[in-house]
Amino acid sequence: MLILLKFCIKIIYYNLIMLNNKLYIKTWGCQMNEYDSSKIADIMKKELNCKITKFAQNANILILNTCSIREKAQEKLFHQLGRWKNLKKNNPEIIIGVGGCVASQEGEKILRRAHYVDIIFGPQTFHKLPRMVYKVHKFKKYLIDISFPKNEKFKFFPPKKTTDVSSFISIIEGCNKYCTYCIVPYTRGKEISRPYKDIILEIKNLSLQGVKEIHLLGQNVNSYNYKDIKKQDYCNFTKLLQMISKIENIKRIRFTTSHPQNFSNELINIYKKIPQLVNFLHLPVQSGSDRILSLMKRRYNVSDYIEIINKLKNIRPNIQISSDFIVGFPGETRKDFYDTISLILDIDLDMSFSFIYSSRPGTPASKMKDNVSISEKKERLYLLQYYLKQQTKKFSLKMINTIQIILVEGISIQNNQYFGKTENNRTVFFISNNNYIGKFINVKIIDSYLYSLYAIFISICKN
Ligand code: SAH
Ligand code: SF4
Ligand code: F3S
Repeated sequence: MLILLKFCIKIIYYNLIMLNNKLYIKTWGCQMNEYDSSKIADIMKKELNCKITKFAQNANILILNTCSIREKAQEKLFHQLGRWKNLKKNNPEIIIGVGGCVASQEGEKILRRAHYVDIIFGPQTFHKLPRMVYKVHKFKKYLIDISFPKNEKFKFFPPKKTTDVSSFISIIEGCNKYCTYCIVPYTRGKEISRPYKDIILEIKNLSLQGVKEIHLLGQNVNSYNYKDIKKQDYCNFTKLLQMISKIENIKRIRFTTSHPQNFSNELINIYKKIPQLVNFLHLPVQSGSDRILSLMKRRYNVSDYIEIINKLKNIRPNIQISSDFIVGFPGETRKDFYDTISLILDIDLDMSFSFIYSSRPGTPASKMKDNVSISEKKERLYLLQYYLKQQTKKFSLKMINTIQIILVEGISIQNNQYFGKTENNRTVFFISNNNYIGKFINVKIIDSYLYSLYAIFISICKN
């Protein structure tokens, strides 16, 4: 009875007032932002009966999920909002919401330049969007909520319905590291680990729907540390991995991003016990110079990083490592830069991401003297990316004529071929008359491009 009553109230509250909602979401930034946007879509579908549209001009609710990791984030935001302003001129009923890290950082300031924005929400408050949309619709007044309620949003996620074979899942939000260049701790708040029981439940639900690969997400996944002091209930990252490895049908476990400081021996050794952990690790080092690492406040030095990789390679000789790099950090000399190039070659890094240092408002590095000219920074980035590309190419070429196991994910709209991923995160395309989506198969690699490979089907894997 109570449930029925609640249901009726909800219908009156939302659906009758806001019929025919069409939602358009534009997302910038990291995998965490992509994950958040997928959850926004799920919540809005459930609560406001929204249909998702791929075209902004068809929507009456426009959401922009922003990123502020590098410069021009604000400019990019107002540029995009300018386009949506024109849509709103033609249809004043349109509701515009800005979320994500720029919203969290700028808050009300966004309205000074874009008064036509209706909702500003943060990475921890997007679960409130349906109610906010309803209130804006009814009272025609803008709303802002960029607070950081602890673990609240997860309670609002509807159980995921999916046909995907690989799925992201957020396990820890925020960051306590405060690297001197980075905006994330200010926009995403302090680290909060989700209760492990919820994570396990979510993964079990995914595995029942055919998900075979889990990709754990967090700004620092390996500082995951759930504590319920009252119940004396604790769980760290390695324990969580062990629990996930016991879930039936989860055959591959990936995680991003991990931090070298929290890459404990316990975590390294777990690679012996959990075969589902893929032979590929994204472990950002940022620089190959101890002096720069210290200015960045990364909390490790180059030899610590190398030690982690060596220990891992002892356990998993074929593990491939990828990283992130920042070039042109304030005070970076040519010697510091060449140390970074040497590190890439010494540890034989695979595909990596690299960026020119970008001064972020309010961060300690933004107050450091930046004496590297922009042309020098661009030159260093060009050279660094040249070496990184050579590394990626080398690993891809080595795979030609080898048999690889891939998890088949779907059919590509670009070339109409089936595609799947290898353990080392490369996309492999192959032609087949049979549908192997959701299956692990053996393929023989016959050709290689930088990040993708072409293969022929060999056989279905036994398990
Ligand atoms: N938590 C992760 C990284 C998250 S941000 C870690 O610590 O490794 C993703 C990447 O963006 C970083 O690894 C870094 O290489 C880059 N980045 C972050 N802030 C930056 C800045 N101010 N300028 C340039 N690159 C930056
Ligand atoms: Fe940013 Fe450093 Fe935190 Fe990574 S660890 S999110 S780079 S502050
Ligand atoms: Fe960008 Fe925020 Fe992710 S700044 S990289 S969206 S955590």
